[in-house]
Amino acid sequence: MKLGTRHLLTLSELTPRELAALLRRASRLKSDLRSGRQHETLRRRSLVMVFQKPSTRTRVSFEIGMRQMGGHAVNLAASEMQLSRGETIEDTARTLSGYADCVMARVYEHEMIERLAAHSDIPVINGLSDMFHPCQILADLMTIKERKKKLDGLRIAWIGDGNNVCNSMIYGAALAGASVAVATPKRHAPDKDVVREARRDTEVVQTEDPNIAVKGADVVMTDTFSSIHNKGAGRAKAFLPRYQVNRKLMDKADQDAIFMHCLPAKRGQEVTADVIDGPQSAVWDEAENRLHAQKALLEALIHK
Ligand code: CP
Ligand code: NVA
Repeated sequence: MKLGTRHLLTLSELTPRELAALLRRASRLKSDLRSGRQHETLRRRSLVMVFQKPSTRTRVSFEIGMRQMGGHAVNLAASEMQLSRGETIEDTARTLSGYADCVMARVYEHEMIERLAAHSDIPVINGLSDMFHPCQILADLMTIKERKKKLDGLRIAWIGDGNNVCNSMIYGAALAGASVAVATPKRHAPDKDVVREARRDTEVVQTEDPNIAVKGADVVMTDTFSSIHNKGAGRAKAFLPRYQVNRKLMDKADQDAIFMHCLPAKRGQEVTADVIDGPQSAVWDEAENRLHAQKALLEALIHK
């Protein structure tokens, strides 16, 4: 599949049909890789990765993904680039466009990646901003589909911080036909515009009560209470103990519910060890699926 859109900054750029095709391709890439078949569809293609913030999964899955498809990735810490000495993101975008076939960037402010995309002649992928984490949700939807055999009509509960991953999850659920129930403290609700837009396509329930959100849920998701852009020493206090995903809360979801977390996780804060390391947890498939989902995305964005 080739995408009509050039960039992936939020997930709302995708149509439901494009999302479904990406997930199908990702599953195919995964099963073929497991049976020893690699698709060198990006031979001699280059990805530049710009990181303003730390990463384990995003960095490694993009780099290995490019290599498996016959291409390669160049990793740049923003602190080692001329960006750190005042070169503009616009000039950086124009320069990288002359060398590479695609840029993936992890930035503090979402506006930064919008400016990068606006001045790039090559596709730009958001590898996490303060507002969104679209690649994570591609992998999450792939994982849910593997476990539940469908997406349409499922009920996804989000507990805790209505952050970047939550915003993308809301867009992703709307695209996939799943409904969402988000339980957060009032001050940490997801972005209002994202919720408003998603409500055109699916049900988005917002509540302060985690018990309401998880009732009958097929998927229970959470994330750290202190995102990289939003650390604040006492931040966890706003969420604990009420918004912790523990055994008692999981028991209120559907009995076959799965638990998901984009990682990194803090056991004892947003989730207890018995849940994240227990039989309902899908977090390791979720982490692995970053590789397969992003390979499908790279193939679709990097036109031949
Ligand atoms: N989930 C995720 O994006 O992980 P990293 O921060 O390790 O890339
Ligand atoms: N919400 C987290 C996700 C990390 C993958 C953050 O922004 O740090």
